[in-house]
Amino acid sequence: MQTAGVHTSEHPLVRQKLTLLRNRETPPDVFRRTMSELSTLLGYEATQDLTVRETTVMTPLASASGYRLAERVALVPILRAGLGMVEGMWHVLPDTQVWHLGVFRDHETLQPVQYYNKLPAQPRLDLCFVLDPMLATGGSAIAAVDMLKQCNIPRVKYVGIIAAPEGVAALLEAHPDVEIFLGAIDHHLTPAPVRPGDPPRGYIVPGLGDAGDREFGTL
Ligand code: PRP
Ligand code: URA
Repeated sequence: MQTAGVHTSEHPLVRQKLTLLRNRETPPDVFRRTMSELSTLLGYEATQDLTVRETTVMTPLASASGYRLAERVALVPILRAGLGMVEGMWHVLPDTQVWHLGVFRDHETLQPVQYYNKLPAQPRLDLCFVLDPMLATGGSAIAAVDMLKQCNIPRVKYVGIIAAPEGVAALLEAHPDVEIFLGAIDHHLTPAPVRPGDPPRGYIVPGLGDAGDREFGTL
């Protein structure tokens, strides 16, 4: 999909690590490590346009001109699964605050339900990265961005691992100003089950299953 504001990584390491994440044989410890590595790679891509200011440091030999980040940035993982992306993002943005948002999908309606909000009362910053590995219907991501905009956050980027086309379209429609960084856009979402044994509704195909359950071993 080539859509303005949507960046799907073509990096070979992202592709290789995504394959490991998708594999149902991958155990939770490897799953967590791989998700963290993917977050670092996607974080690198999502931070390419951050503003820098010139600065000067002393090397052991002389003064050298250099740069420091000029933007105040926060990471906003959506619990639970987004927690697995924080450590990896910290590798590229080590001095960054983390504001947790708890949102889960109601299994029947697929509507987002907010249960935790650790946003500061008066945030003073320029940019938030919403972190959630799975963008399915888009409901959870839209709810998270809604909350950030209610706090007057001027700029939001979404970093995810796998998306369904339906989720990308919904997030773009609700928040066209939010840039989306992904590892892959998959085929479709599962329909409502018809026969016993069919997967539940609203899962990304082929996807990787339930990201939170796979991360935390709660399958
Ligand atoms: C998953 C995922 C997203 C959401 C995506 O969380 O981590 O937050 O589903 O679905 P949506 O785009 O249709 O809203 P889940 O609700 O399973 O909660 P968990 O992370 O606590 O397992
Ligand atoms: N949440 C997940 O963890 N996986 C999906 O495929 C969809 C939503």
